[in-house]
Amino acid sequence: METIELKKMTRELCHELYKDWNNDESIYMDMSLFKTFSYSEASVNRYFDLKNESSRIMFVIMLGDRPIGELQLKQIDWEKAECTLSIHMQNDTVKGKGFGTQAELKAVKYAFDELGMIAINADAIIKNTRSQHVLEKVGFKLVREDGDFKYYRIER
Ligand SMILES: CC(C)(COP(=O)(O)OP(=O)(O)OC[C@H]1O[C@@H](n2cnc3c(N)ncnc32)[C@H](O)[C@@H]1OP(=O)(O)O)[C@@H](O)C(=O)NCCC(=O)NCCS
Repeated sequence: METIELKKMTRELCHELYKDWNNDESIYMDMSLFKTFSYSEASVNRYFDLKNESSRIMFVIMLGDRPIGELQLKQIDWEKAECTLSIHMQNDTVKGKGFGTQAELKAVKYAFDELGMIAINADAIIKNTRSQHVLEKVGFKLVREDGDFKYYRIER
């Protein structure tokens, strides 16, 4: 099986990642908001700058030297030692091959072992059963559900 690595996101890798990016319909609750992604250098620069903040670590999922997805540990609360995980693979060619599962497992380990977190939260909209399945496979437990979202949590 091919193995991925998590690297800290850089501006350069962010551009490389987003040049071949497609938004996935499964994260849109309201499909009227869905837009096909189109790359622009300026918007990726803006995005990278916006996400570069102290309560967030942006990782790029690397398959060899190729960026194939983005994983974030965000809303990092150092006092509570909790954060929230989000993930999105680059496009359909890299989904369903086990890479998302590998990336989440590595991110959970990093959050617990390197950041000293005691809990990680995640959520997925109800229709996103693939994401829910992967979260559960990695060890997240369903803690709550409302009309729109399922909320998950894993504790050290
Ligand atoms: C969700 C995501 C990160 C998962 O990564 P991935 O690399 O595609 O997932 P994997 O290949 O590691 O695992 C997919 C698993 O889901 C299962 N699966 C596939 N489609 C499914 C579906 N519609 N419902 C339930 N399970 C499904 C697969 O069988 C596999 O499980 P298995 O290993 O037990 O057989 C990726 O698909 C993605 O980026 N999706 C779009 C963005 C997104 O949904 N992000 C999460 C927002 S909460």
